[in-house]
Amino acid sequence: MKALILAGGKGTRLRPITYSMAKQLVPVANKPVVEYGLEALIRAGVKEIGVIVGDTADAVMAALGDGSRWGAEITYIPQPDPLGLAHAVATAKPFLGSSDFVMYLGDNLVKSSLEALIEEFQFHRPSATILLSPVKNPSQFGVAEMDGDCVRRLEEKPAEPRSNLALVGVYIFSSAIHDIIAKLQPSARGEYEITEAIQGLIDQGQVVRSHVVQDWWKDTGTVEAMLEANRLILEDLETKIEGEVDSESRIEGRVSIARGARIVKSVVRGPAIIGSDCLIENSFVGPFTAIDAGTTLRSSEIENSIVLAECHIENAHNRIESSLIGRGAVVRQSDRVPKTLSLVLGDSSQVEIP
Ligand code: G1P
Repeated sequence: MKALILAGGKGTRLRPITYSMAKQLVPVANKPVVEYGLEALIRAGVKEIGVIVGDTADAVMAALGDGSRWGAEITYIPQPDPLGLAHAVATAKPFLGSSDFVMYLGDNLVKSSLEALIEEFQFHRPSATILLSPVKNPSQFGVAEMDGDCVRRLEEKPAEPRSNLALVGVYIFSSAIHDIIAKLQPSARGEYEITEAIQGLIDQGQVVRSHVVQDWWKDTGTVEAMLEANRLILEDLETKIEGEVDSESRIEGRVSIARGARIVKSVVRGPAIIGSDCLIENSFVGPFTAIDAGTTLRSSEIENSIVLAECHIENAHNRIESSLIGRGAVVRQSDRVPKTLSLVLGDSSQVEIP
């Protein structure tokens, strides 16, 4: 069994963060999203992993390296144009050969382990196993129409979904998928859709098994979903204090503070994670917040947010919440007059002012 992790794509719904970084590298609880999938595959015993990369190839390669950090072997496969998931599989064919493979979308997070699924695939030997999850907004996903336990029909982002069962971005395929992909036509959005390829297997009468995932699943493609994923991961956080906490600070609930971080005259209320070399001074860090390495927070309050590395947040007048703040961003209140807002924002930034 091999694996194919998809780490290309443009991440348009996460702009402006994705103008300067791959969506798969945005940290959830201070760890790039893609590493959760990679680690789940490795835990399930899959060690030969192909990673599809696009415009952000250099950053993805720098983050994951050759896989030796996890005892795995990573092969990078450039996809010249983001022409869809089925196109990515076709691009990876020389790497995949005739192997069975798990395809994992690098911006997806699945709580349940992959081990049982892979074992079941190897026992029953279907042409594909798909995962499904009930969602409130099915028209934003691939959607499955079921006939009892059998998948009757799959549709990609239907305007009128026939069920609330979305296709999770984790699939297991046998090499039978390649012949179908070779005959696919691009969809209305101009992509070669894996959803249509799986429908092709069903149309040929091949066996496609499905599982409704029992634990949570998140496609982290939007800011709201990213914050929710952060909350879900932080729910399972364990307390680990390696940094310094002064006597005037209070740590409440499950909090992780990395080496070199300093908490001074502050309250950190978990679940929350603070990266290495951060300075939290005279501040409140509330539940479901992840602050990445080297960020400074002074005289400010924040909760339910993700702050990337090397940010400076000072004297923020109102509590910051439900925010995603990119690397090196500066947020501060100044005393200068006139009392106007002074903004330097990247394209597609969003600021809400009360
Ligand atoms: C892709 C698939 C879709 C699936 C989703 C899961 O959508 O095309 O069927 O439900 O991933 O994350 P995309 O991220 O390309 O919009």
